[in-house]
Amino acid sequence: MENSQYLVQNEQEVTERAPKPRKGDLLTLRTSSVAFEGKAVSRRADGFVIFIEGALANEEVEAEIVKVKSSFAEAKTLRVTDPSPDRRDPICPYFGPCGGCSLQHMKYEAQLAAKTNQVREVFEHIGKIANPPVRDAFGDPAREFHYRNKMEFSFSEERWLTPEEIASGDVADRFALGLHVRGRYDRVLDTEVCYIANQTAQRVLAVTRTFVRENNLRVFNPDTLPEGVLRFLVVRTSLATQETMVNIVTSHYNENLMEQYSQKLRAEVPEVSTIVNNVNGRRAQVAQGDAEYAIFGSGFITDRIGKIDFRISANSFFQTNTLQAERLYEIGKEFADLKSDDTVWDLYCGTGTISLFVAPAVKKVLGIEMAESAIADAKANAARDGITNVDFIAGDLRKVLLSDSIPSAFHSPDALIIDPPRSGMHPDVVKTILELAPERISYISCNPATQARDVALLLEKYDLLALQPVDMFPQTWHIECVAKLVRR
Ligand SMILES: C[S@@+](CC[C@H](N)C(=O)[O-])C[C@H]1O[C@@H](n2cnc3c(N)ncnc32)[C@H](O)[C@@H]1O
Repeated sequence: MENSQYLVQNEQEVTERAPKPRKGDLLTLRTSSVAFEGKAVSRRADGFVIFIEGALANEEVEAEIVKVKSSFAEAKTLRVTDPSPDRRDPICPYFGPCGGCSLQHMKYEAQLAAKTNQVREVFEHIGKIANPPVRDAFGDPAREFHYRNKMEFSFSEERWLTPEEIASGDVADRFALGLHVRGRYDRVLDTEVCYIANQTAQRVLAVTRTFVRENNLRVFNPDTLPEGVLRFLVVRTSLATQETMVNIVTSHYNENLMEQYSQKLRAEVPEVSTIVNNVNGRRAQVAQGDAEYAIFGSGFITDRIGKIDFRISANSFFQTNTLQAERLYEIGKEFADLKSDDTVWDLYCGTGTISLFVAPAVKKVLGIEMAESAIADAKANAARDGITNVDFIAGDLRKVLLSDSIPSAFHSPDALIIDPPRSGMHPDVVKTILELAPERISYISCNPATQARDVALLLEKYDLLALQPVDMFPQTWHIECVAKLVRR
């Protein structure tokens, strides 16, 4: 590019092996696609790839190289010179540094298309499956914002400073209550708005911030301020009942302080139906305390998926996008092609949400899960909902499936619904499933890469009939996917 500090390096210009860019280089790059985690790809003709943060597919950007490896480099966008038609202005003032969202600058339909494409690519590249049967990602355009029923905010006295604040030198007060800076677990943004949180959570955030300032409360830091009090603020809201739980996590219990906080919060946010105080005096930065004090109300809220009510306490797992969770479970159920006489296993069942959701449609369901506390919740949920054709076993699936702990009434399942953690299934579990060989498998996953790896192994005995991505987390790069497998 003449008269410019930017060096043009894209597919057109680089036709033979050119020197690798160096850290700090300023380049003008044309992008071709968006890769995993939302970075745009600029591929030179010699195969060298530059992943560009902040860019979309089919645009030209001026970017700075921030990292160089042997076959690729990473860059950050400084200016968009030829924007993609998929680009839009992010609505959130914290977009960029905030770790909460990464795709707000992409129109929602384009986010869905990119996620569909991502699923296709991982099944082709990792699963080695040609033309995988991927359907269009199932999104929720009406609720692409404010969809989260749970938000975890952090307290900090090392607020992330904007370039303007640094330039002004006015950095005396560094209190923050909000979300973490992307990739920086030691830095927090003072987030006054959040477009993925529900509206009540935002009001709780504002009232809590005022309360902290009015009372000059300090933030706990095990190294520099062990006498500090504040750690996390977790807000959970039920979509079905609109009940809201506030869990303030502190380093120690102060009854008087909690009572004052409770009175202020209830006066200003009447939707708050219960307030709990988890106390964690350990170093570990986790919102789960060693002790929990009920400050106001019952200590739980109730939400609903399908026709089933779930009791949610401060530390129990519950899907964070309730409406999309119901759609995910519907698809999981449909892909298992359930019949009224079926015996079904719900593997990695958590608190039994899927078991209880499908139970009315089948003869019986067995849920298996490692966490004892989740199994206790699952049994309690079943009892409260009066569902009697389910049973739950606590244990590591790798061992449980090989042991004789499966009750005989549940032997020879007709269908499996599998929902493992991000790491997917252990190869031993896949092997046992292949030996068990149930007729139908519905495999739900929050990580299509490990799902593709596991499905490739299951193809030994199964046909892959469909892949349905479901967008549970608009504005982020995460995607859930359900695979339908039928024994040959
Ligand atoms: C994605 S969650 C399942 C959530 C649940 N299906 C739901 O929708 O609420 C995965 C679950 O797998 C459990 N888990 C992880 N490793 C396991 C193992 N080796 N054996 C059994 N359960 C395991 C975790 O405790 C977690 O509850």
